[in-house]
Parts: sequence; C-alpha cells; structure tokens
Amino acid sequence: MTRLSIPLLSLAISTSASFLSQLPITSGTGELPFGGSEVRVLTHESHPDHSLIITAHNVNDPSIKDDRPSITDVCPGATSGYTGYLTSGPKHFYFAYFESRSDPTSDPLVLWLNGGPGCSSMVGLFMELGPCIVNEGGDSARENVNSWINKANVFFLDQPIGVGFSYSSNHSAPGGQGGTFAASEDVYAFMRLWYKAFPESKSLPFSIAGESYGGHYIPVFADHIDKMNKISTLDDQIPLESVLIGNGIFSDVKQRSSSYDISCTNATGIGPLLAEDVCGKMAKAVGRCEYLLSACHDYPDPLVCEAASNYCSKELDSPYFRSGRNYYDVSKPCEGYLCYPIMNSITKFLRTEKVRGALGVDKEAPPFEGCSNKVGDEFVKVNDYIIDTRPYVASLLHSGIRAMIYVGTYDWICNFVGNERVFGSLKWNGMPDFRYQQENNKQVWSGGLWWESGLLRYVRINGAGHMVPWDKPAEALHLFTAWLDNKGLK
Ligand SMILES: *[C@@H]1O[C@H](CO)[C@@H](O)[C@H](O)[C@H]1NC(C)=O
Ligand SMILES: *[C@@H]1O[C@H](CO)[C@@H](O)[C@H](O)[C@H]1NC(C)=O
Repeated sequence: MTRLSIPLLSLAISTSASFLSQLPITSGTGELPFGGSEVRVLTHESHPDHSLIITAHNVNDPSIKDDRPSITDVCPGATSGYTGYLTSGPKHFYFAYFESRSDPTSDPLVLWLNGGPGCSSMVGLFMELGPCIVNEGGDSARENVNSWINKANVFFLDQPIGVGFSYSSNHSAPGGQGGTFAASEDVYAFMRLWYKAFPESKSLPFSIAGESYGGHYIPVFADHIDKMNKISTLDDQIPLESVLIGNGIFSDVKQRSSSYDISCTNATGIGPLLAEDVCGKMAKAVGRCEYLLSACHDYPDPLVCEAASNYCSKELDSPYFRSGRNYYDVSKPCEGYLCYPIMNSITKFLRTEKVRGALGVDKEAPPFEGCSNKVGDEFVKVNDYIIDTRPYVASLLHSGIRAMIYVGTYDWICNFVGNERVFGSLKWNGMPDFRYQQENNKQVWSGGLWWESGLLRYVRINGAGHMVPWDKPAEALHLFTAWLDNKGLK
C-alpha cells in the first residue's frame, strides 16, 4: 500500500548460545520428541546458509524441566508445540507453533502472517486466533476458546527480519531490505527446513493465512513455493493447498480510493462518516489520486510515487484520520497504540522477561514492538506498496491452489469495497462466473454474505473490523474450519 502516515497492522506486527548450552542439543532429522524441552539444530543441504533451532514444549509431560517458565503459565490454552528461530547468516526469524486441539496428526498445517509491512504475527497470536488472548492491562492472558488451533496445527512467523521477535545481528541491515520478494526467499527456506525437521507434517495439507499486508506477502510467497515445487523432486515439494487472506491489500491503484466510499457513503451501513462538505472535496480528489497511483505503478520512480502518496494521503486519508475514528474499525474511536487499547497491553505483556522466557525469545531480540516503522520504511524505499499482487493470486488459482478472501465490513484501511473491486476484476479463467456470483448470487451465512466460483471464495463478515477474529471470534473460526473442510458457510 502506498505509504500512509500510520503503520498498517497485519495489513492487515539469554543469548541463544548460553541458553542452548543448558539444554541437550541433538541434530539431524526424524521425529522430535515432546519430552519437555529439547533444543535441536537442523540444517538443509539445499539451503546451506540456513539453520533451524527448535525448542519443544510439551504441555502434558513437563518431565524434563529447565528453568524456563512453562508456556501454559503465560498462555492458558496453549497446546504442545515448538518455538524457535530460523537462522540465516545474521538473520534470526522467530516462530511459535501450536499443535491442533483436535487431531494434530491429521489436521491441516497453517502458517499465519500478520502484515504491516513490519507488524508482528504475535498480534495474530495474542489478539486474534492463537491459543490465548492478552488481558487488559497486559499482566496475563486468558484461553481463547475460538482459537484456530481448535482445528489446525498453526504456526506464527515473525517476518521479515526486524519484526516482532525476529532480528538481525548485522546492524547495517536491520531488516525489511528488499521488501516482499526478498522475504519470500526466506519464507521458502523456512518451509524447506520445517519439513526437514518435521517430515511427518508433509502428509498434512498446508495453507498460508494472514491479513492486511498479507495481501502482498501471501500471493507472492505462495506463488514462489508453487513455482519452486514445479522444479523440485516430489520429495522436496511443499504440500501447499490453499491461501486465506483477510482484509488484504492487493492493488493500491484499485483499492486506495475506496476509502472515499467507506468514509462518505453508507457502504458500511453506519455511514456516511464524514460531513457533506468534506466529502464533496474528497469526491473531487478520487480520480486524480487513482491517476497518480497508476502513474507510480507504471513508472515506479520515487519522485512520482511520493507525489502520488502525498496527494492521496492529504486528500483522502487525512479527513478520516482527523475524525478520530479507528482506521481499522469505523464503529470505534481510535484509542491506544494502533487505535486499540489492547495493543498497548500486548506490547507490555510481550516485553516481560517471564513471557519472553516462556516463548523462547533470544536475549538479543529487541524489546517487542507491534509494528516496526523502520521495516515499513524499507518497503517504501523499494516501492513495495505499489506491487499489484492480483496476477499472483490468479497464478495460484490456475495452479489448482484454493484461495479464500474474507473481509470485515467495518474496516476502513483495507475495506470490503476495495477488495470487491479487486476480486471482481481478477484476470483468471474463472472470472466470468465468479463475477456473476458476486453480482447476482450472494449467499447468506450467520456472519454476513459469501460467494464463490471454482477455487476462489469471497466472504464478508458484517460488523467486523480489520482484525476479523478479534471482532467476531466464533464467525472467524467457522469460516476458517469450513474452508479447511471444503464446506460451505452456514
Ligand atoms: C551486513 O549488511 C550489509 C548491508 O546490507 C552488507 O553489505 C554486509 O555484507 C552484511 N554483513 C553480513 C555479515 O552479512
Ligand atoms: C445506512 O444503511 C443502514 C442499513 O441498511 C440503514 O439502516 C440506515 O438508515 C442507512 N443510513 C443512511 C443515512 O442512509
């Protein structure tokens, strides 16, 4: 997304050496026992620069004790799993994995990514769909009965470097360099190492889910996996089955001016949100904003793109920001970090030593931040926001990979009006029928409306903001499980 003056959420957020030395270290492949805590270091011959350092946590058998606080102490509802780092030269990528509450040996494997760019997937874990949700005040967390781990094995990855608990030990390259395409290489390497570490998970269908700037990440990452699969031996292929993208940003050119529709029409059912005279001025700016953004898209010169971004921000975004409303949920005021008081609580929670210890966070990792502006700036430098990811989504569909797009209708920043423009114009071979369904055959479910054609499903969640599982936890879990089960919505 062309840069706004605010970070976009999931846009959609011991030195290891001394820690490791206290624990038995084994290496190689094969089953990783859930014997309390154990650390393993794994490498992969195709990715010689990368290694994976994994710590197991077993919530049922804490027989092997170390001096770390247990994961269930800080995160009630946590299941057995792993936390750890993928290391590549100076880069250290943090992840946390929780096995399914139903049947870990056959339930799907899902990678969750928040957006930003620069926002930590710990926001997804502790605010949206993880096993626990941080309580107000940030001193503790409570079980999340609607966690997506109810039906899937889920891992949360902090990427790119410089985000959340991921960090670089090279101070000249602190993170985010190279934008989405550079990040896709690391995520691919991560997955290859993952399957080497956990070969048993190869039999599980794999999906990538996320929100917000995930509309950039996920199509590009998934397409990279798909392209690599096509030139890999069966053994090395990643069993990618689907992608799920909530309130995503796919095409700034197509989506940006939809902030006008949300602000100045009754699209949300609670609008218009701004005064008539303000909206009159905004209406006049829509065409020029779109025109400047397409100039930036066609000629991604920083001068052109900066001018486009400044104009659109000033004319279309600023009036909404001045209203004091939450830009992720038009029904609420903007209060607290990133407009949510809970974000302040999450920051406090994830900065405590006890929580960092239980999550296996390296001592070197900086204090937790929901979103890193530095990383966001790196994406601006390479004009990452202007990348149109629609062709990547189309390419996935043509390769037989399913895609679900779900959008909370109260979001302002990556709203449903813009998403519906994107998917009503997606160039893929199912487009005529998909468009017919969108225009003539919307179906009703308990959370709103949905339609689909072939491998593409689109879901509206009425009254949910940008972070759908936060606002509508039961509906979010339903749409997630129905999708994984290949069933319609009820
Ligand atoms: C550190 O980052 C700089 C800037 O990108 C790069 O030139 C250098 O090679 C990096 N050093 C290492 C050890 O990776
Ligand atoms: C906006 O839409 C809602 C729901 O359809 C309706 O109840 C409300 O009266 C509308 N508001 C305006 C100003 O038209």
